[in-house]
Amino acid sequence: MISRQLPTFRTPRLTVRPRTVGDLEACMAMDRDPEVTRFLPGPWADPVAHRAFVEERMRHEYPVGMGYWSIVASEGFVGWVLLTPLDLHGPEIEIGWRLVRAAWGRGHATEAARPVLEHALNTLGLEQVIADIDPANTASVRVAQKLGFWPAGTVPYNGRRVIRYVAGPAAAADASNQSSSAAVTASGS
Ligand SMILES: CC(C)(COP(=O)(O)OP(=O)(O)OC[C@H]1O[C@@H](n2cnc3c(N)ncnc32)[C@H](O)[C@@H]1OP(=O)(O)O)[C@@H](O)C(=O)NCCC(=O)NCCS
Repeated sequence: MISRQLPTFRTPRLTVRPRTVGDLEACMAMDRDPEVTRFLPGPWADPVAHRAFVEERMRHEYPVGMGYWSIVASEGFVGWVLLTPLDLHGPEIEIGWRLVRAAWGRGHATEAARPVLEHALNTLGLEQVIADIDPANTASVRVAQKLGFWPAGTVPYNGRRVIRYVAGPAAAADASNQSSSAAVTASGS
């Protein structure tokens, strides 16, 4: 049986543990950096709405095994990884990552997200996990690629289109069906 309490993951450099109310101020400080939220619409400039937004996501009842994990490095809180229904309601399950700027470029996002993705696919047995990413967000695209995600088309997101990256057995089966039908088309043309 899967525990209601999210697991904690230890990687060579990081502890990836369930996010708690004690992380609220650190999360809000991270979001207030305009570089961090450059590709992410949200109430970041309105302190009251911003707090309500983060608190709501902290209180929300996620499906078993899903939610937010804080990433803790030697210097303390450096960001989070999420595994939640898309926009809280799904049906797709998304993975996401956000780090304070001082921690960028050290491989931390990939290192922290890898055990969360493994948990999603191997422990929860999810068929597919998605990550919708603005194509201009090169670092995030690269994290998805390093984790083994591949692009599966574009989807609308706040008035623009972003790339939907997918991973998992259902996504792999779709990709393989598409490549065999492409091969049939190619050989038939
Ligand atoms: C996206 C984010 C989490 C990446 O964190 P990170 O710890 O720096 O990521 P990693 O170090 O694991 O990997 C980043 C990769 O992108 C590459 N990269 C970073 N900036 C880049 C740029 N401007 N152009 C090209 N590649 C870039 C890095 O070189 C690295 O790839 P490599 O390992 O092949 O060299 C971080 O930039 C962030 O928090 N951004 C703001 C929030 C956000 O946009 N989240 C994603 C929403 S979809």
